[in-house]
Amino acid sequence: MEVLNIILQWASTVIEKIRQISRELASPNMHTIGLLESIHSLIEDLITVYPIKIEFHKKNITEKTLTEKAQLNIFRIVQEQLNNILKHSKATYALIELFVHRKRLHLKIKDNGVGHDSLIPTKGVGIRNIESRVEFYHGATEVITTIGEGYELNIAIPYPLIEGV
Ligand SMILES: Nc1ncnc2c1ncn2[C@@H]1O[C@H](COP(=O)(O)OP(=O)(O)O)[C@@H](O)[C@H]1O
Ligand SMILES: [Mg+2]
Repeated sequence: MEVLNIILQWASTVIEKIRQISRELASPNMHTIGLLESIHSLIEDLITVYPIKIEFHKKNITEKTLTEKAQLNIFRIVQEQLNNILKHSKATYALIELFVHRKRLHLKIKDNGVGHDSLIPTKGVGIRNIESRVEFYHGATEVITTIGEGYELNIAIPYPLIEGV
């Protein structure tokens, strides 16, 4: 009976934790924790569940220069591409880079997974979604991949960001 009680307590803690993570994933609050912290916390959540190493490097960018909406859009892109990596790539390592270079905000997400034949056009909802978020800021999306050579998503957006299509 005692053991059962401990298990029940533990189960409800886990359920509460999952609820909390789901809520956070559904609408992370850029106002309270910001883009950079949100990315770190997403990575923390993922690496506790999946056997992959994920690094996040940022350079000369502070989230103060980005609106909350822009931060959320960038977060959604990172979230979608990390999902793709976990779903399609079999990668053991992924690197996220966010930096400003020559008046452009760059977001690069690459992995060491199985890659994809770049001659076969595969644009699912995920990639299209990423592209339209980027187009909203007059930016460009590029994918570099070969079978067996990993997958790299490159995004460049004019910086400071201007909204609107
Ligand atoms: N990191 C990756 N490694 C290998 N293939 C990928 C990766 N990311 C995306 N892809 C390929 O691109 C396709 C399109 O991705 P996406 O538009 O997100 O659609 P979905 O994830 O629903 O299949 C995927 O089906 C997959 O074949
Ligand atoms: Mg996808």
